[in-house]
Amino acid sequence: MQIQKYLNQKIYDIGIKIGAPENFDPIIQINNKNDHIDYQSNGIIKISKFLKEEPYKLAQNIANYLKLSPNFTNISVSKPGFINIYLSNNWLTKKINSIAQKKNLNITTKNKKIVIIDYSSPNIAKELHIGHLRSTILGDTTVRIMEFLGHKVIKQNHIGDWGTQFGILIAYIYEKKKENHFLDQLEYLYQKAYKKYTLDKKFAEKTNKYVVKLQKYDKKCLYIWNQIVNQTIKNNQKIYKRLNVKLRKKDIFGESFYNFMLPEIIKDLQKKYSNPKIMERLLYILINLKIVMEKKWVLLLKKNGAFLYTTTDIACLKYRYEKFHANKIIYYTDKRQEQHLLQVWLIAKKAGYIPNDLILEHHTFGMILCKNKKPFKTRDGNIIKLKDLLNEGVSRAKLILKKKFTPNKKEIDEISEIIGIGAIKYFDLSKNRKSNYIFDWDQMLSLTGNTAPYIQYAYTRIQSILNKFFNDFLNKKNEKKIKIFTIFERKLVLKILQFEELIYSIEKNGTPHLMCNYLYELSGYFSNFYENCNILNSKKK
Ligand code: ARG
Repeated sequence: MQIQKYLNQKIYDIGIKIGAPENFDPIIQINNKNDHIDYQSNGIIKISKFLKEEPYKLAQNIANYLKLSPNFTNISVSKPGFINIYLSNNWLTKKINSIAQKKNLNITTKNKKIVIIDYSSPNIAKELHIGHLRSTILGDTTVRIMEFLGHKVIKQNHIGDWGTQFGILIAYIYEKKKENHFLDQLEYLYQKAYKKYTLDKKFAEKTNKYVVKLQKYDKKCLYIWNQIVNQTIKNNQKIYKRLNVKLRKKDIFGESFYNFMLPEIIKDLQKKYSNPKIMERLLYILINLKIVMEKKWVLLLKKNGAFLYTTTDIACLKYRYEKFHANKIIYYTDKRQEQHLLQVWLIAKKAGYIPNDLILEHHTFGMILCKNKKPFKTRDGNIIKLKDLLNEGVSRAKLILKKKFTPNKKEIDEISEIIGIGAIKYFDLSKNRKSNYIFDWDQMLSLTGNTAPYIQYAYTRIQSILNKFFNDFLNKKNEKKIKIFTIFERKLVLKILQFEELIYSIEKNGTPHLMCNYLYELSGYFSNFYENCNILNSKKK
């Protein structure tokens, strides 16, 4: 049950009865500040003009109707025209018992969709770095939320395994005659090759040739490419496993996968949008981008025949609709790709590859900064590898553990991995994805505040209760029911009941950080309950 929705409907119905306009929105908000108010309705003032009544009086009038319901023990009105609602313990008890023994608290969406989540999606040949953290964690959390709600979720790791970087690498490997032993020095070779690419024009031209060769499935190029891709994927999968994200090898549909579709797409688009100004073999697509994107041209095919990132993404979108029958696709990349995706979506729509009602969302995210508000880098100014970041988190957690507990090496190793990596993931997730955040080891590993260690602590306490009690509770024949005796129990029950409206609002607004706020508050209420109430073998019960 979504309490907000229920209250909204209730007040809306009363409003309509007394003549409010059809678009009346009671605006129900959770109230955390006052112990005697659970929810507040803030939408009365807006309709008071329409009803030609003073807001306070109007609120009182509606409040009087609400008071008739046994579901509330306290309804009050505050100036200028807010209605304060306090739910009855009876009602809360009924509601919590109706979901407590149900799978997923009986939450499942009626509007089931096929949702594709495109996340992590690193460019191959380089190791995963700190820049991949946000996309990976945000995307994976959304996968779990959507699955929890009952949608069919298709994970997609759209790796960059076909572009310029392969031309650069392959050209360099040939030049240095490294065809037989390049795997163990990939990262190093790429750095060298990239430097040469930026400094040496002739070499840069050569690299373009190799991109085309690869895209035309040249055997030798493919052989090198295959090894590079496999090696990088293997390394990445290790990190995904460590991060406990759900991406598997089978979820990889990289740029190369769509190569077979590209010539057809170019032909088709050329037919649909032929432009007399096309030069040589250059294909420019203008469509209505003029209006939408201020005269931005979109290049889909290079003079030398190479396809581009945009071309691939158009094919990819077509494929996702035709083969996976997606109803909704969410892309996790930073804001810089906004223009790119808008172009892709528009071209695909105009070309008739996808219907207008396919929901396309780009969930962008801010940067990770260090304390001086500059991008977080290594001391010598290089980008931080994700592997090193995780290792550092784990060793910092280990230090803290060693200080606090008697060391038992195996246990400390195990626990520090959970705490260190949990802290990094949670810290990242707890920040509003749209803003930049400052990476702060002390904060994320702190035992107090909205941090992973604090939540993990509450979690382990809960687990130890559940271990003793849960099977018994799940047993259908069990007559035990949840009852509310104290304010601590009441707050915990209400918070648990609020989970449903929270998860739907995260789904609607793409705001997974709210889950962290929720968990933090929930853990607080749980701790109060744990400290103040007799839980197992309670005499009261
Ligand atoms: N590989 C890209 C990058 O590293 C991200 C891909 C995102 N997904 C997509 N379908 N374009 O920036």
